[in-house]
Amino acid sequence: MHPNAAITGWGHYLPERILSNQDLEKMVATSDEWIRTRTGIQERRVAGPSETTSVMCTRAARLALDRAGLFAQDIDLIICATTTPDHLLPGTGCLVQRKLGADNAGAFDLNSACTGFLYALSVASQFIQAGTSRRVLVVAGETLSRFMNYQDRTTCVLFGDGAAAVVLEATEQQAGVLSTVLGARGDAEHILAIEAGGSARPASPDTVAAGEHFVRMQGNEIFKTAIRAMAQSSRQAVQRAGLSMSDIHRVVPHQANSRIIVATQQALKLDDSKLVVNVERYGNTGSTSVPIALAEFLDTGPIHAGDNLLMVAFGGGLTWAAAVVRWADIAQIQGQRATPLAA
Ligand code: ACO
Repeated sequence: MHPNAAITGWGHYLPERILSNQDLEKMVATSDEWIRTRTGIQERRVAGPSETTSVMCTRAARLALDRAGLFAQDIDLIICATTTPDHLLPGTGCLVQRKLGADNAGAFDLNSACTGFLYALSVASQFIQAGTSRRVLVVAGETLSRFMNYQDRTTCVLFGDGAAAVVLEATEQQAGVLSTVLGARGDAEHILAIEAGGSARPASPDTVAAGEHFVRMQGNEIFKTAIRAMAQSSRQAVQRAGLSMSDIHRVVPHQANSRIIVATQQALKLDDSKLVVNVERYGNTGSTSVPIALAEFLDTGPIHAGDNLLMVAFGGGLTWAAAVVRWADIAQIQGQRATPLAA
């Protein structure tokens, strides 16, 4: 029988600096009222000069390892979801591996924009189900503020920085990642892009002068696709898990815009009490948005073994993804570990 992949640890990290709507009113032609009514966002976090993606990911990962009761050396594999890596080379996952001292882990990056965490969760769970890995650290981090044009009101009010991580562990329990759904529409690449800095348009004085290293986006185009993709992939993930929507205890959606969340909620006929929402405090933190909301919920909300969580996201690419996770009996997994563990 194949093992299942259960979440046994989680953690998140947010930079201290807050950029409020009122701060943005002084920077671009916008208003607190426009941002709140169109997006639900009130403030977002901005990384300090020494807070790179790998620094924030490492902090979130340490919390996740502590929560799981594991040492960094117990991890087999690190998958780092990010669209804003420290460098093009080496991968941010490798930097996290070194900073953690995860000497027994392979490490790689996965870039799927805002769906990155769920794509990484899907890959990680399959490493575990195939028996290739027993403990995988899935970490997501973004320093989107470094790629924002703070003169472009159509993007700079939306995005924020942060990091979050989960530990996935092999278990014989009928729990863990029950299903994942991944989708992409690469023909919509122009809708959300950082055009320069890659092999197609290497960095040059011209690309810098044209601001092509910043995020550019046609937000209203994404808006329409997002609602359809979130609702459809949610239904598919729940069906693949052999469940119905009424079996889902909590839904953790991508935190891009409260209007997208509400429209998805209406399409899926979900009660308010089932939704985890924090978009007002952090804005859109890219690949990190779902795991930050998940970690905040797990830190504060009641969850029991057997509860089913649905996570769903959309993002650049365009891409979309959904996953259903059944909460495992973590104490039982910790009790059965064969290798030496942290206290
Ligand atoms: N302040 C004031 N006015 C603004 C601002 C702003 N910050 N931004 C845009 N406007 C103006 C526009 O210029 C436009 O003016 P016009 O009518 O005179 O031309 C007007 O507001 C309406 O603009 P729309 O783009 O049509 O506004 P919309 O209601 O669609 O809201 C938004 C824009 C918030 C971007 C919305 O479309 C959205 O959230 N889309 C999804 C974006 C998203 O989630 N992207 C991330 C994907 S995830 C990832 O991978 C990173």
